[in-house]
Amino acid sequence: MPIIKGFSKLSRAEKISHLTASLPVDNDLAATLAEFRHPARQALFDDFSENTLTNYYMPFGVAPNFLIDEKWYVVPMVIEESSVVAAASRAASFWAQNGGFKTTIHNTLKVGHIWLEWAGPPDQLLLLQDQLGKHLTAAVRHLTASMEQREGGIRQIEVIPQKEMTGIYQLQVTFSTADSMGANFINSCLEGMKEPLLDFFAQKKLSPPNIIMAILSNHTPDCLVTCSVDCPAEQLAPYAAGLPIESFVHRFKTAVDIAIHNTHRAVTHNKGIYNGIDAVVLATGNDFRAVEAAGHAYAARDGQYRSLSSCTLSDNGHFSFSLTVPLALGTVGGLTRLHPMAAKAMEILQQPSAEELMSIAAAAGLANNFSAVASLVTTGIQKGHMKLHLSNILNSLGATEQQKAAAQDYFKDQTVSQKAVREFLEKAQ
Ligand code: MEV
Repeated sequence: MPIIKGFSKLSRAEKISHLTASLPVDNDLAATLAEFRHPARQALFDDFSENTLTNYYMPFGVAPNFLIDEKWYVVPMVIEESSVVAAASRAASFWAQNGGFKTTIHNTLKVGHIWLEWAGPPDQLLLLQDQLGKHLTAAVRHLTASMEQREGGIRQIEVIPQKEMTGIYQLQVTFSTADSMGANFINSCLEGMKEPLLDFFAQKKLSPPNIIMAILSNHTPDCLVTCSVDCPAEQLAPYAAGLPIESFVHRFKTAVDIAIHNTHRAVTHNKGIYNGIDAVVLATGNDFRAVEAAGHAYAARDGQYRSLSSCTLSDNGHFSFSLTVPLALGTVGGLTRLHPMAAKAMEILQQPSAEELMSIAAAAGLANNFSAVASLVTTGIQKGHMKLHLSNILNSLGATEQQKAAAQDYFKDQTVSQKAVREFLEKAQ
């Protein structure tokens, strides 16, 4: 296919005609795209991105009964994987009856960098670090004033020479961004510091630096929350699937320890955590790519990728399970208020602060992780997963409402698979 020039300048109808003419697509493309456009609010969605043709639907559901730091929440979740909301809901009501989720916010700091190349001696810059910090902070006060009113702002500016790249410096600016995720604020401040940085070098009669780039870092190990649950081991009977409790908790802890030590398992284990976290992050209009990137970097902070959660069993038979994860989230700014469903999610969550949202997302992550590991060490996940997946299979095979009801009944005690469902429908005809 030749390069398409000026595609973004075409009208939506022209874009669709172009695609229909140049790609092997069914001729219902235009109708399907039209069907998913919003009758009243499409202009808003069109403006979120470039070349928007329609909307891509995902289920917006809720997991009720989350008791987090003594407060009740119904947690909105946007996710396509059928078992995630069910698993979160079940774990939430189980833990609500066993003390609930307890969280600690360790810090909410974020950093950004101006990367520069400079030929002078590193010591000279390090000596000027404090003066430079004051100069740059004053230079962007017009950008930080309203954040300062919300108790955010610039916290520190450091010059860090790069050990492995002679002549390359990281000017690290630490920010507190109150209830916003703060990406735009941080990037505006950093870009606003570029000219004043050059001025500072000129005032000090230093050779001019070559500014390479200015950008926030999504590595947020200082924007960290721990969420934990604990109970006497015997309380875990509803999750033990008939196993003796000692055997269940031993298997559970061993599974978590395997994820701490083995990277193959750790990645899948952490994916189960992000099933819950991402669903909340998406529902609240936050940036799930940033959250995932930060979490995976944190999981590898000692040089090996490991589990983000850990489990302890005390000698007196007490079970504890906890998750520590960086979560740079906002409850104001970005899409959090602009997307009508994100705004509704905030309402359902009773207008949380950014710190509260960190606790809620971490609790959803721990709830899903708990459910997944408990299933893996007992029945396996496929039984429950495929039961929930049954309606997807029935829809994909074009089953009628009557066939669906009959299949739901038949598969109550049968193993679900694509083949088994197809055969059931063929026989039922
Ligand atoms: C599936 O989406 C998530 C799990 O694979 C997580 C895990 O293995 O712990 C079940």
